[in-house]
Amino acid sequence: MRQLCGVGTFILGIESSCDDTAAAVLADGAVRANIISTQLVHREHGGVVPELASRQHQLYIARVVQQALTEANITPQDLAAVAYTQGPGLIGALHVGASFAQAFAFGLGIPAVPVNHIEGHLLSVFLQETQPEYPLAVLTVSGGHTQISLLESPTKIIPLGTTLDDAAGEAFDKIGKLMGLPYPAGPHIDRMAASGDAARHPFPFPSVSGYDFSFSGLKTAVLYYVRKQTAQDPEFLARELPHLAAGVQACIVGYLLKQLFAALEAHPHVRHVAIAGGVSANRELRQRFMDECNARGLQGHIPPFGYCTDNAAMIAYSGWVKWQAGFVPQPYTQPFAS
Ligand code: KG4
Ligand code: ZN
Repeated sequence: MRQLCGVGTFILGIESSCDDTAAAVLADGAVRANIISTQLVHREHGGVVPELASRQHQLYIARVVQQALTEANITPQDLAAVAYTQGPGLIGALHVGASFAQAFAFGLGIPAVPVNHIEGHLLSVFLQETQPEYPLAVLTVSGGHTQISLLESPTKIIPLGTTLDDAAGEAFDKIGKLMGLPYPAGPHIDRMAASGDAARHPFPFPSVSGYDFSFSGLKTAVLYYVRKQTAQDPEFLARELPHLAAGVQACIVGYLLKQLFAALEAHPHVRHVAIAGGVSANRELRQRFMDECNARGLQGHIPPFGYCTDNAAMIAYSGWVKWQAGFVPQPYTQPFAS
């Protein structure tokens, strides 16, 4: 790997798995630049349109990379490697980032390091001053994934539980949609719930054995509940929106934490625990997670807001970790959707 005496090893990270075109530069694992261009074009469609996402990535990727290099105050020739999201994600969107990263790395004569997007979210918990220690349990909650993982080391990751249907972020978004909220609904529910009373519209936790999750039943329960209430009172949604948001959020957050801490009780040697992924930006989840950790004498870790939702710093960091673990460059690595 190219080493620049005294200034560190620079890695460029590229993320294009969904609707954020992102590039970041890390020097020896520390973030020097983290640029994110979020695609607003999907808002009017109520969800991400894959073809539009690919085209937007194509439009913005070179600019975003250029901006990251400028902000990090380096030239492409200073880079030692280019890490990029290989998957999972939208296949066309991934191809834009992967092709750009591999061509860029090839032109510079440096390795292109493929990174698993979920591993990126997992390792984003290290992008902060107070570093978690191994063994570490991480609850990854995003628009596409909900899983509990046990990290014995940066490269030894053991899955403990996953969703059997929808992801937690997907539940926020789909339930928000039927409440009439724009996409992505998670942040809107978060904001509205702050002024709502969760006890007015309680929903029971889904029932699944072990440490897995299921959210599709909750979505259906809210749909029928809203239909029934609206039939009796057409003003129901307009009047009760914050309380409904609070009830839904309390259920999702409470359920996520119930499964996470059940898994931790079965692994008492794990004293460090973290949450990651877009839903970890949720304020109730952050607060209750930390309260639970403190009550149990566990060390809780949450990435800063900017590293919770999709970003390229986590991809660059994962690439750096992979490289340090002895990554062998491949001639060409295909993206994968799931
Ligand atoms: O990690 P991410 O940016 O993209 C994926 O890899 O999916 O996560 C996006 C998800 C969306 O479902 C969005 O609604 C949710 O994260 N989200 C939130 C909040 N901020 C983002 N959900 C609840 N509360 C939030 N504050
Ligand atoms: Zn993500």
